[in-house]
Amino acid sequence: MARITFIQPDGSETVVNVDSGTSVMLAAIRNGVSGIDGECGGCLDCATCHVYIDVSHSGSLAPPQPEELELLGSVTATRKPTSRLSCQLKLPPSITALTVHISGTQS
Ligand code: FES
Repeated sequence: MARITFIQPDGSETVVNVDSGTSVMLAAIRNGVSGIDGECGGCLDCATCHVYIDVSHSGSLAPPQPEELELLGSVTATRKPTSRLSCQLKLPPSITALTVHISGTQS
């Protein structure tokens, strides 16, 4: 199990517990977390699942693959070094907690 903390642009937080291997996008959708649309269902075709990972986790997650990096070029909110597409963020068993900041606009 892993605990994901979603932080909205207004600072409000939602904490959800998910099985390891679940994508951050699915964790948000299944738990009614607003601000992550996930329109393509995780097929790397929409960029509506943009989040910023907390800097404390940046070294412990697998880096984005070229397809994700390319699609990050079309996000509507400001792209930052910590930008990720949450459908591609799957937590390995070694990570039991993750904090992500929701970007504010998705489309
Ligand atoms: S859900 Fe469409 S790119 Fe992530």
